Amino acid sequence: MLPSFPFTHTARVEFRPLGAGDARELLAVVATSRAQLGRFMSWPREMLELEQARRFVRLGRDGWLAERTVRLGLFERSSGALLGSIELDGVDLRRSQAELGYWVRTDRQGLGYATEAAFFALRYGFETLRLHKVRADVAVGNGASARVLEKLGFKREGLLREDRTVGGVFTDHWRYGLLSREFLESLRAWR
Ligand SMILES: CC(C)(COP(=O)(O)OP(=O)(O)OC[C@H]1O[C@@H](n2cnc3c(N)ncnc32)[C@H](O)[C@@H]1OP(=O)(O)O)[C@@H](O)C(=O)NCCC(=O)NCCS
Repeated sequence: MLPSFPFTHTARVEFRPLGAGDARELLAVVATSRAQLGRFMSWPREMLELEQARRFVRLGRDGWLAERTVRLGLFERSSGALLGSIELDGVDLRRSQAELGYWVRTDRQGLGYATEAAFFALRYGFETLRLHKVRADVAVGNGASARVLEKLGFKREGLLREDRTVGGVFTDHWRYGLLSREFLESLRAWR
């Protein structure tokens, strides 16, 4: 089991692992955001029934137990609404690496939620897990996600040609990376 996530909330976002009781709301949120989320990620296209939302929740918990995934639900504190989720996946403590992923419901995008949540996920990765590097792969054309990474200091490292499928089509992805020292130096500068 990985160490618990030390950040419970910010002024406007609560972080907590998704539980079985969140599956129904997850399905509803994904349903309203599916067209846009599905442009760059495959799983929202496939989450059509409650059982698939429950599976998403289960995979997050199983990944946590297997020391592979840290996935947190993001909840708007003012309303309690599910905003999206953030994760470090492919956690490899031996190689000190992990992959960052995130999504935010369509009607709450452009408000800085992804950047805010990713910042705390990175603090967890670099400070608590003592990772050396966090990577993120972004489909070419996903300008919003690339911008989130660039705001956080990630550097574009190369193009992964037709690296994974999105909607059944092999798609080029930009590989981004952030090193521990880059993140911790910028954190010190902000403090
Ligand atoms: C990517 C995503 C998580 C961003 O969430 P968000 O909460 O809106 O992100 P933020 O508000 O923190 O930042 C978005 C930034 O992208 C910018 N942006 C939005 N659309 C853009 C576009 N088409 N091209 C370039 N920049 C864009 C915004 O202006 C903002 O930058 P700014 O703060 O400099 O103005 C959200 O769009 C999403 O869920 N997309 C679908 C799922 C996805 O692509 N996940 C990532 C897979 S790698």
